[in-house]
Amino acid sequence: MIEIKNLTKVYKLNKKQMRESKTTNPLKTAVDDLSLTARPGEIYGLLGPNGAGKTTTLRCISTIIRPTKGQIYVAGHEVQKEPEKVREKIGFLTGDIRLDPQFSVDYMFDFFARLHRMPPERIKERKEELFTYFGIRDFAHKKIKELSTGMGQKAAIAVCLAHDPDIVIFDEPTNGLDIVTARNVTDYLKKLRDEGKLVIVSTHIMSEAEKLCDRIGIIIDGQKVMEGRLEEILHDTDSQDLEDAFFTLYQSRKGEE
Ligand SMILES: Nc1ncnc2c1ncn2[C@@H]1O[C@H](COP(=O)(O)OP(=O)(O)OP(=O)(O)O)[C@@H](O)[C@H]1O
Ligand SMILES: [Mg+2]
Repeated sequence: MIEIKNLTKVYKLNKKQMRESKTTNPLKTAVDDLSLTARPGEIYGLLGPNGAGKTTTLRCISTIIRPTKGQIYVAGHEVQKEPEKVREKIGFLTGDIRLDPQFSVDYMFDFFARLHRMPPERIKERKEELFTYFGIRDFAHKKIKELSTGMGQKAAIAVCLAHDPDIVIFDEPTNGLDIVTARNVTDYLKKLRDEGKLVIVSTHIMSEAEKLCDRIGIIIDGQKVMEGRLEEILHDTDSQDLEDAFFTLYQSRKGEE
């Protein structure tokens, strides 16, 4: 289970960042008092526009950055108190952690699997399974830098699933993928869900959230403005589809400002 209790993350901007965001305020609240619970056997989707705070939230869960306020429990372990325990339980995919371009997919897989102290036999087994599923066996000996975007993304996915984590945290997993490759990835996430794992993804693609996620949390400006199953969100916003629902919520929020 992932339990986020009143998470707030405030970044301190440097001069360049302040200039770029045309502000004189050095503090940027990226996530603002956000709480949510995601459970094993479900795909929870964080849906929100650019800059909503999706990546920041997932990075806090994954112990990459520290919350400013609030607590996050991953399988019962608080992220700031027991970060190593949390890291053992999760597989974290994000666009801004790149695999080293000089090494082969094969090498990176072994490297990460060994970090998780997996025995050699198990590494071989998992590699066979994941490389076959994602169709990367023929590319396994290529350097990361020689791979296409889609192949690179699939390699990154295989590597972060090496240790067969119970909790899968994927930041925009289908970013830059064509529809065939994207479907390959989302089908795998459904398979993990059906095996009873907890999957949490971020996306700004409405159709992906509609089709993939069991529950959706809509975040705007760092705050969760609605959460529920697709039918519940459509019902509560009196909308035909998620895009309509999103705009209803977005406009009512911007109207308040
Ligand atoms: N390291 C950082 N330093 C300062 N500000 C940051 C940093 N990372 C993110 N931000 C700011 O925090 C806010 C939330 O960013 P975040 O990357 O979490 O959003 P996101 O929902 O993932 O957006 P996107 O859809 O573009 O990936 C944005 O205003 C962003 O500019
Ligand atoms: Mg992001």
